[in-house]
Amino acid sequence: MSLFIKKSIQSLLAASAESDKSLKRTLGPTALVALGIGAIIGAGLFVRTAAAAGGNAGPAVTISFIIAAIGCALAGLCYAEFASMIPIAGSAYTYSYATMGEFIAWIIGWDLVLEYALGAATVAIGWSQYLNDLLHTFFGIGIPYEWSHSPFQSADGVHGIVNLPAILIIFLLTMLLIRGTAESAAVNNVIVFVKVAIVLLIIGFGWQFINPALHTPYMIPENAGTIKLSTGVLHDYAATGNHGWFGVLRGASIVFFAFIGFDAVSTAAQEAKNPQKDMPLGILISLVICTALYILFSHVLTGIASYKEFLTQGSEASVSYAIRHHMPGFEWLAKLVTVAILAGFSSVILVMLMGQTRVFYTMSTDGLVPPVFSKLHPVHRTPYKSQWLFFIFVSIFAGFVPDSIVGDMVSIGTLFAFVLVCLGIFILRRTDPDINRPFKTPLYQIVCPLGALVCLGMIASEGWENWARLIVWLIIGFVIYFGYGIKHSKVRLGLDKTPLDPPNPKYVD
Ligand code: ALA
Repeated sequence: MSLFIKKSIQSLLAASAESDKSLKRTLGPTALVALGIGAIIGAGLFVRTAAAAGGNAGPAVTISFIIAAIGCALAGLCYAEFASMIPIAGSAYTYSYATMGEFIAWIIGWDLVLEYALGAATVAIGWSQYLNDLLHTFFGIGIPYEWSHSPFQSADGVHGIVNLPAILIIFLLTMLLIRGTAESAAVNNVIVFVKVAIVLLIIGFGWQFINPALHTPYMIPENAGTIKLSTGVLHDYAATGNHGWFGVLRGASIVFFAFIGFDAVSTAAQEAKNPQKDMPLGILISLVICTALYILFSHVLTGIASYKEFLTQGSEASVSYAIRHHMPGFEWLAKLVTVAILAGFSSVILVMLMGQTRVFYTMSTDGLVPPVFSKLHPVHRTPYKSQWLFFIFVSIFAGFVPDSIVGDMVSIGTLFAFVLVCLGIFILRRTDPDINRPFKTPLYQIVCPLGALVCLGMIASEGWENWARLIVWLIIGFVIYFGYGIKHSKVRLGLDKTPLDPPNPKYVD
């Protein structure tokens, strides 16, 4: 039987029709944009921006944001076409199973683990940095370095052992998800409001402190020297990818993390009032708003503190560091930022942890991963065993690996999934021109290959260590697929009957 065996669209639509009865169509375009922004703004902006500026792009991290946004917008259009072809709640995994076949769906689903599970780990590590910052600011205490850093980090001769706060937040949110507590649209709106307000306040108040000298030269020059990082590694600006245009491209692959999550909009298709029209709008408008905010924000950040500081004293809780040290009189803003960031990060981690178990729930009901991942809690009807397993998996990364490595793995995995989606849409237009496509990617002959190319460019800039990690990850995935998935696949066994998703606690009124 072909590796590319497809799931029947009819069975997906039948399941969708069933679940239509239980989910209300309440989300209009504004709510979808709010949902997108809620899932997008997080550690990418408040942690990774400074890392990208400090290590690779300098003030030109603004250009990195533009490159990453172009890649996301092009892939986002393809996502929207994908999602509209199969107007049910789902992820790129579900869509690709019905259109590109099981093997590609497996690769995408397996890649989504990098996006969601490791994404949650990365944001949790950022959460830990800001928690420490909060404890210092409000109570004058801090969690000892060794208990809030991975074993691969050190400072002043002290080595990290485990990042306990990062594990703690994952634990708390896992418990919340198991209970199925609803994160209502209203709560989401409040969090979105707070996040956007904080970004605007920083831009507004920070603007007057911009020192134009810090923006010259705009890109990092080759002769910028070397810096010793907390991982003990020597960062050499003369190396490829650490200065000039290559640095900007490498920066794009790092800040790409800040856009991850916009595809969350497509998972709400079932609850959208008019999915065909509103989903692409929701995806693109959230991207445009975030890009504008990100560019202005990073312009301010690199204008108030020198990019090198973000690799040294300001490498942790970078935004409140910059405000505290370079915006006299704005200590209150630093405090506000820290509190808002802790709340904002929690909502991103929640969405990611939930997204992860929901994707594995579907993969499990398809037979591609073991049934334990679709076992529902007898009372709460949530995939609680899966949630616990992912708690362990995510904690290993959050507790023992530095955010720079986990963050890069998230970026490369997601970028790779985007490349597959862009190419998939291109191929499907040719092989299956007659599928009903309520939303069509405009100029697909250009948009699809260009989207794939921009994402590949960012992957290329990530360097051999990250390529190797992605390849190892894919090999593990192939071993599981050929050792387990292919033998238990319901579609192959002729047992395909797409069940309903478990109750989705995310978007209830
Ligand atoms: N885009 C999300 C963040 O930056 C994942 O935290």
